Amino acid sequence: MPQQLIDGNREWVERMNREDPQFFSTLASGQKPRYLWIGCSDSRVPANMIADKLPGAIFVHRNIANLVVETDLNLLSVVYYAVHFLEVEHIIVCGHYSCGGIKAALDTKPLGFLDGWIGLIRNVYTKNRKALDNIEDPVERERAFTEINVKQQVKNLSRIQFVRDRWANGERPHIHGMVYDVADGLLRDLEVNVKSAAEADAL
Ligand code: CO
Repeated sequence: MPQQLIDGNREWVERMNREDPQFFSTLASGQKPRYLWIGCSDSRVPANMIADKLPGAIFVHRNIANLVVETDLNLLSVVYYAVHFLEVEHIIVCGHYSCGGIKAALDTKPLGFLDGWIGLIRNVYTKNRKALDNIEDPVERERAFTEINVKQQVKNLSRIQFVRDRWANGERPHIHGMVYDVADGLLRDLEVNVKSAAEADAL
């Protein structure tokens, strides 16, 4: 029932206004987020909430399995805006365990319309087959694939020319890979960090 969303919103506005009467008027003057978050659409992984950040803190792009596809006009526009206009300091690519997109990519079951997108995730597996095929335990393999997928998307992001142009001028963003565990609520730093073309090429 959409009314539940409206009711929830009204309660939230009241609470926010109680805590900080200037909160909404300050936000109305513009945004200056330090972070761009590229995460999964999964309802259990809301960027602001899991990082305990208020509106205004994080510019967000989400899709199934947090992919960075070089032909995705939507994603590229978000990244361009974040980098050139908002001048975000950090881009976080965040995967998560128990990801439906990752699970679907590990399976061969046809999914109709979704096969196009899931195929892109399967390509990530194919690219990293050597490392993944050797992992016998299916749960471990799925977790490893989730992490490798994040690393691959950080790589993809670091190949975007307008990101490289910024680095060539000694400018931000820094890119970081993280993974979120829906089972314990913890965000883990995968220690995949890139702030230059040289670092990206060494990944
Ligand atoms: Co997911």
